Amino acid sequence: MDFKEYIAARITAEGVSQQELCAMLAVPPDTQMGDYALPCFRLAKSMRKAPVRIAEELAAAYPCDAVVCGVQAVNGYVNFRIDRAFWAGQTVSRILAEREAYGSSREGEGKTVCIDYSSVNIAKPFHIGHLSTTVLGSALYKLHKFLGYTPVGINHLGDYGTQFGKLICAYLHWGSRELLEEGGLRALNELYVRFHAEAEKNEALNEEARAYFKKIEDGDAQAVELFELFKSLTLKEVGKIYELLDVHFDSWAGESFYNDKMQPVIDELEAKGLLVESEGAKVVDLSAYDMPPCIVLRSDGASLYATRDIAAAVYRKNTYDFYKCLYVVAYQQDLHFKQVFKVLELMGKEWAKDLVHVAYGMVSLEEGSMSTRKGRVVYLKDVIDRCIEKALSIITEKNPSLENKEQIAKTVGVGAVIFGALYNNKIKDITFSYDKVLNFEGETSCYVQYTCARARSVLEKGGAAGEAKVPADVAPQEFEVVKKLAEFPEVLRAALEKYEPCFIARYCVDLAKLYNKFYFDCSILNAAPPVRSFRLALSECVLITLQNGLGLLGIGVPEKM
Ligand code: ARG
Repeated sequence: MDFKEYIAARITAEGVSQQELCAMLAVPPDTQMGDYALPCFRLAKSMRKAPVRIAEELAAAYPCDAVVCGVQAVNGYVNFRIDRAFWAGQTVSRILAEREAYGSSREGEGKTVCIDYSSVNIAKPFHIGHLSTTVLGSALYKLHKFLGYTPVGINHLGDYGTQFGKLICAYLHWGSRELLEEGGLRALNELYVRFHAEAEKNEALNEEARAYFKKIEDGDAQAVELFELFKSLTLKEVGKIYELLDVHFDSWAGESFYNDKMQPVIDELEAKGLLVESEGAKVVDLSAYDMPPCIVLRSDGASLYATRDIAAAVYRKNTYDFYKCLYVVAYQQDLHFKQVFKVLELMGKEWAKDLVHVAYGMVSLEEGSMSTRKGRVVYLKDVIDRCIEKALSIITEKNPSLENKEQIAKTVGVGAVIFGALYNNKIKDITFSYDKVLNFEGETSCYVQYTCARARSVLEKGGAAGEAKVPADVAPQEFEVVKKLAEFPEVLRAALEKYEPCFIARYCVDLAKLYNKFYFDCSILNAAPPVRSFRLALSECVLITLQNGLGLLGIGVPEKM
C-alpha cells in the first residue's frame, strides 16, 4: 500500500491535483513529527492564503481513519501519522506472503538491459582492480532481473592486441605447456614481463612478436592454437573466481569477436563523412565537443579499442534491441566512452542516449598501491583466499564447536570481499582493509550475516511465527524495524535508477542495526503469546529481507555462525 497516495487521495486543496499533492508529501527527518508531511508553502499561491493557515485548515478537514490515525498542523506543515498496528500488519503479512520475492517487481518487463562488466583481459592477471567491475556489474545484473528486466551479462574479453604476439614469442623462447599448466595465469604473466625485459636488450624480439601477431590474424594454425591455449587458461582461472563470487555471464563476446564486424561500421562512418585523415590515421573529429579525436583506424590500418566498442554497440543493439546498455568500467575510461558514445550519436544512432558508462573508483590495498609494471600485482584470488582464511580463524575463535566451519568461512570471507567493494558510492576510491571488512561489529556483511543467524536461531527456538496478529501497541523499537522493512522495495528501485548497489548494502546494515536494537530491548521468546508471535514474525521478516538484500549483492547467508 502506498501511504502517500492514500493520504493525498483524502486531501482537497483547491487548484492542486491529487498527483501533485502526492509528489509534495515528504518524510520528515524525525518520526516524532509524523510519518509524512505536507509542506504548504507551495500551496500559498494557488490557494491565496498563508501557509500556516492552509496547514491548519487542511488538518482540520482531514478524515482520520484506521490507516491515518493522527493529523497535526505545525508551522505551515501538515503532519500525518500512520497507525502503527496497521502499518506493521500490512508489512509483515506482505513479506511473509512474498518471501524470496519480497522487493521484486515487474516494472522492467519487456526491457532488455545489456551489462558489460568484469571484461577481463586474456593472459593478464585478474587483480584487485577488477573487483569493482565484477561485483558491481553482477549486482546490477541480479537487481535488474529482480525488478523484471531481462539483463544480458556480457564479458567483453580483452582478447585482441599485439601483446598476444609478444606472448607467443615469449612462450616459444622460454615457456612450455607444463610451465603454464602448473603456473597458470601467473606463469603467463611472468612470460610477458620477461619478454619486455629481454626485448630491451634484443630489439629483434619485437619484430618477431609483430610477426606472430600477424600470424594470429592470418589464422596460422600454430599461432591460433597457442592463443587459444592462453585464452582457455585465463578463462579457467577467472572461472573459479566467478564461481566463488557467484558471477555469471550470458555472452563472452570479446574484442576479437568484432574482427569481422568493424568494416561495415567503418564504411558507414566513411559514407556519412565522419572520417578524416590525420597523420595517416582515420579519425572522427570531436573538437566541436571539446574532446580529442576518436581514432578509428591507425596509420597501418589496424583497428583500435574504440573501433571495437563502436562495432560492439551496434552489434548489441541489433542483437538484443536493448533498452539500456551499461558499461561497468573504471572512471579512467571516461573519455573513451564519451568519445565512443559521441561517435555513435554522430552516426545518427538515436539509441546512443541509452548507452551508460557506469563509472567507479579505484580499489587499493592498505598495504600500498599496486603497480603492474613493477610486478607488484595484487591478485584478486589472493585477496579472497586471505579473507576466507581470516574468516575461518575468527569463526573458530568465536565459536569453536560450530559445524561446517570451512563452508561458513567461505561464505563469510567471500561476502566480506564483495561487501567491502560495494559499501561505498561507486565513484569513490576505496582502500581495502582486511580488518575492516571482517569486523563483526562494523558496517560489514559479516555483521549482517551474523544478524541473520541470530534471527534464525530465535525462530528455531520460538517455533514458526504462525499467523501474526499485530498487538494494538507497537513498541518504538518494533516500529522502527517495520518501517525499515517497508522501505526495501523503494531502496531497490533507487539502487537501480542510480546504478548504486551500495544503497542495498547500506540498507542491510541499517536494518540489521535496528533489528539488533529491537532484539536487545524487547524480549521475544519470553513475551506474552500475542506479542511473542508478532515478534517472531518480525524476526522472520528481517531474515527474509536481509537474505534478499544480500543475495542481490551475490552474498550468501550461513544457517549458523
Ligand atoms: N578489458 C578492458 C580493460 O580491462 C575493459 C573493457 C570494458 N568494456 C568495453 N566494452 N570497453 O580495461
